[in-house]
Amino acid sequence: MDKQLETLRAKLAEAKLGGGQPRIDTQHKKGKLTARERVHFLVDEDSFEEIGALVTHRSHDFGMAEQQFLGDGVVTGYGTINGRLVYVFAQDFTVFGGSLSETHAEKICKVMDLAVKNGAPVIGLNDSGGARIQEGVNSLGGYADIFYRNVQSSGVVPQISAIMGPCAGGAVYSPAMTDFIVMVEGTSYMFVTGPNVVKTVTNEEVTSEELGGASTHATKSGVTHLVATNDVDCMHKIQRLLSYIPQNCEDKVPHLPYALGDEYREELNTIVPETANHPYDMKAVIAGVVDQDSFFEIHENYAENIVVGFARLAGRSIGIVANQPMSLAGVLDVNSSKKGARFVRFCDCFNIPLLVLEDVPGFLPGTDQEWNAIITNGAKLLYAFSEATVPRVTVITRKAYGGAYDVMNSKHIGADMNFAWPSAEIAVMGAKGASEIIFKKEIDAADDPAAKLAEKEREYAATFTNPYRAAARGFIDEVIHPAETRRKLIKAFAMLEHKAVSRPKRKHGNVPL
Ligand code: HXC
Repeated sequence: MDKQLETLRAKLAEAKLGGGQPRIDTQHKKGKLTARERVHFLVDEDSFEEIGALVTHRSHDFGMAEQQFLGDGVVTGYGTINGRLVYVFAQDFTVFGGSLSETHAEKICKVMDLAVKNGAPVIGLNDSGGARIQEGVNSLGGYADIFYRNVQSSGVVPQISAIMGPCAGGAVYSPAMTDFIVMVEGTSYMFVTGPNVVKTVTNEEVTSEELGGASTHATKSGVTHLVATNDVDCMHKIQRLLSYIPQNCEDKVPHLPYALGDEYREELNTIVPETANHPYDMKAVIAGVVDQDSFFEIHENYAENIVVGFARLAGRSIGIVANQPMSLAGVLDVNSSKKGARFVRFCDCFNIPLLVLEDVPGFLPGTDQEWNAIITNGAKLLYAFSEATVPRVTVITRKAYGGAYDVMNSKHIGADMNFAWPSAEIAVMGAKGASEIIFKKEIDAADDPAAKLAEKEREYAATFTNPYRAAARGFIDEVIHPAETRRKLIKAFAMLEHKAVSRPKRKHGNVPL
């Protein structure tokens, strides 16, 4: 990387690019690249065309007239990533802390407008202290102009935000309205107000890292979807992410060439343990079903009881939502419902087919969940699946209990193809809990209540702990051997490739926020 950087710096010096004289050293000492270096590592070589390199701010207060930097703290333009058009803005922290002036905002709005008109993604490399304080309402207005465009572009073109320094105020609210956020470990922070303001208002002592570092947002808040180890890794993550996503809402999913071969996967036969309550890693199922090394996980360390991410199936992009028995037995709770719902809605915006791998014992009970609105939040996932019109396929690997059976892309809420492995258990609840409720009187009256409970449990399990009742009703289309799953899925998604659904006219639905 050092050699690459050296060459780049020589090139930049030779090109005499606009954008003032960034204090390169201050960035490098912090382990950060400059705005131009970041753009260089993001786009295809020699593909970047800068727009507005000579723009300067119009501010006069507080001695600002004397402090002019070409480009006004943001590099904007367009280029290609793997040959596909993208629009980019990269904030330059060495110019007034990357803060957003009226003109800085105009430059960003210009590329956002071009992106929508030309149907290509917008990538924002954020490194900014928010609204430029010296400009007052002009800079606030500038942010609002961007926020408005974030919303108008939402679902039209993909919007990706990298957080590459200390970002505050508007510099976090704009990314929050984009589709994906990537943070860089150790050098990036996101907060509405920094540690000093927190101390003044709440008397809490907290470091920037604890308050809004990459690990905080990757695990506690879920604000960031991906974490990069450094600036270059951040650019690589954005490139990989884009490789799964269409250019706009009318585009088709990327489809890499793939020649069908032996799609039988023997290893899938032995993943689900014999004992129903033993955990197993759903990521092993994912790996066994999708194209080799193609799974790209989103929100990896947040709400780990649900796994979401992109993959390829016979070369074509799909989105995966899967319960994870390794974490909280794969139960649905507030955070996993929000995480799943957001991912489903993104895939639906951009025509990415959805695969659901289901092993779910139900919703997590308890005061913590109820008081944190599991009702409203669980409904988000139900709503998201119900409104999605992309091809939708489900495979039940083991448990599909209670309301969670309905929610996890059941036939009833519009899934197209529903498969189950022979190990599937489709019931209102587990055999023990069910028997304790419906056979309570019989068990209490028995000479040996424990033996009676065990007998009733066996009876209930024999009736419901299988996929055949659901298959008899057509709620499951086919009971398949695990090893056949990949082959079945490839065929099902190919069959659904031209799926078209029309909905009744309305302004928009009212998702339970
Ligand atoms: C003008 C700014 C600035 C800002 C930083 N700078 N933020 N200049 N407007 N918003 C300047 C500093 O004066 C300094 O200039 C240089 O950038 C580097 O800043 P430092 O503070 O030295 O850097 P650091 O210690 O890394 O701290 C970074 C920071 C901190 C955490 C971002 O600067 C900070 O808290 N800034 C203010 C954040 C903020 O409250 N912004 C307004 C939010 S309101 P010199 O010349 O000394 O190098 C907002 C409205 C949007 O954005 C609406 C939301 C809904």
